[in-house]
Amino acid sequence: MELEDFADPWEQVRLLQDRARNDALLALLERRAAGARVLEVGTAHGLFACLAAKLGAERVVAVEASPLAATARALVEANGLAGRVEVVEADLLEVDALPGLARGEVDLAFGELLNADPFVEGVVEAMEAAAGWLAPGGHLAPGRLRVSVALVADGSPAEVAGARAEVARLGARGGLVLDPLEALLTPRAPYRSLAPEVTPLAMAPAFTLRLGAGEAPPEETRVRVEAPRALEAGGAAVLFEAELDAGLAWRSGGHFGVLVCGFAAPLRLAAGEAVELRVRVDPADDGIAVEPAR
Ligand SMILES: C[S@@+](CC[C@H](N)C(=O)[O-])C[C@H]1O[C@@H](n2cnc3c(N)ncnc32)[C@H](O)[C@@H]1O
Repeated sequence: MELEDFADPWEQVRLLQDRARNDALLALLERRAAGARVLEVGTAHGLFACLAAKLGAERVVAVEASPLAATARALVEANGLAGRVEVVEADLLEVDALPGLARGEVDLAFGELLNADPFVEGVVEAMEAAAGWLAPGGHLAPGRLRVSVALVADGSPAEVAGARAEVARLGARGGLVLDPLEALLTPRAPYRSLAPEVTPLAMAPAFTLRLGAGEAPPEETRVRVEAPRALEAGGAAVLFEAELDAGLAWRSGGHFGVLVCGFAAPLRLAAGEAVELRVRVDPADDGIAVEPAR
């Protein structure tokens, strides 16, 4: 995802309608903002930076790489918070100095840089940069990312089934022979698609990453998943839990959606049978991909 994509109002509408996401962030600020010097990475509209100030933050610096910084600045001014909330239009990774906050002075650094594939918005690099501003004992949110994989029945994007149904309908109307379209309607697996939610058939943790601690996601890891009953899996879902604070987390689903990696062929497992899944992470390329290792 490119940074300028966030300036699209639909992107902001999508995330702002996600109440579970918003409530987790609000709960974090209710716990941690009072009296704190706060850094928000990627403030976008500026709402949470303003809330942090209203909830008692001593000073808030809200960094936003896209032109949405102007909207955040307008919100700050409309709420009489200029002077306490400073909006900086910049990529935090390229920032050497922040207004009124020195390195080692931030009590709370937070940012929502997640997606169905948790690595495509640069959360690892951004939280690493944010951690560099923290005071000793300062709090980073999210500070931990747990990634799990789950076998799911349907690994194919809903669009494929939809396109097949439409082609069949149109073909029937003209009595067409459709065989030459078969390859076109069979996207090359493995492919990745987005589901709003998934029902895991079997699930296992893949890895946990501490953010802001110099850790990088493993390039490749193997995960053993055991079928609790006989099942056929068409793909694997990637599920994340991003820990904001004790008992407070953002999870896949909601506006994030769930990343599903379709398998080249369905996987049939007997009850109790295990399969090894290969989980590859390449944030610079496609992000996470999961496929059977055998
Ligand atoms: C998912 S939006 C979150 C908006 C808002 N903080 C919220 O939670 O509602 C992420 C925002 O972070 C910004 N962003 C991403 N990486 C950044 C970086 N390294 N430095 C500054 N802003 C960044 C994007 O432009 C985008 O507006």
